[in-house]
Amino acid sequence: MPSEAEAKACCADLYQSDLAKLVMGDTLHPGGLGLTNKLGRLMGLKPGELVADLASARGESAQALGRVFRCSVVGVEFGAEAVLHASNSAPLNSRARFIRGDAECLPLRSGVFDAAVCECSMSLFINKAQATAETARLLRSGGRFGLSDVTIEPDSLPPELEGELGQVLCLTNALTSDGYIRLMEEGGFTVTEQVDASAEIIKILDEVESKLAAFSAFRQMSGAATDASPALGGQLERSPELVAKVREMVGAGKLGYWLFVAEKRPER
Ligand SMILES: C[S@@+](CC[C@H](N)C(=O)[O-])C[C@H]1O[C@@H](n2cnc3c(N)ncnc32)[C@H](O)[C@@H]1O
Repeated sequence: MPSEAEAKACCADLYQSDLAKLVMGDTLHPGGLGLTNKLGRLMGLKPGELVADLASARGESAQALGRVFRCSVVGVEFGAEAVLHASNSAPLNSRARFIRGDAECLPLRSGVFDAAVCECSMSLFINKAQATAETARLLRSGGRFGLSDVTIEPDSLPPELEGELGQVLCLTNALTSDGYIRLMEEGGFTVTEQVDASAEIIKILDEVESKLAAFSAFRQMSGAATDASPALGGQLERSPELVAKVREMVGAGKLGYWLFVAEKRPER
């Protein structure tokens, strides 16, 4: 059994790998920057506000929020390489900066942030209640929390999507939409908006399918070894079947992607 720190490092390594970039693109969540901006609009982000991006990966969302809403963004990410990449690729006039840290123990001051976003990452956090409490701690009273994540119905994950693959796809420890709402309400927030963006999973599946087909064709042409992706344990060969499975789950309403906006309640 890996320790919590090892599990977090392993998860970060998967997401900062070239394979993750190849399969998912620059943003590591369904809907890309379009959905990030939609979340920012729902949260009513304003110029000059101070915003935290929890689990900011390579920094694409934080940069976009700074550009579009002209707010200052601090991205916090567990993966050191991803933080380095985000910092090095930020333009000189960037409104975003990046630090390494754990969303369950944020290296940020209490009560000074106007808003926090967390995209496709709460599902991965080992201690979700702790991460939610940390988010509440850094926000001022009335501060907004924008959460977007994978939702999954209990006991609906098929065996072929368990293990590392389920982890990479944020499926293994995802909650139901009611589960995220409960998490936020119990963590000191009042949920004000919830939006179903599950159609974005279908779009990402279409893209992943065509990328994987092109990758397989390239490997066949170049005679590359069959297991070029140790991180996914040779699942590449089975990818059409797995993609079909995920598609089926979305169609059956067992898997989804939701946006939530919540407001921090005043402390008593
Ligand atoms: C699916 S990616 C999403 C990244 C980004 N928010 C986006 O939407 O593009 C999940 C990210 O969460 C990070 N992560 C996982 N556990 C973390 C933790 N406890 N603290 C900080 N980052 C974490 C991973 O390293 C990875 O970059």
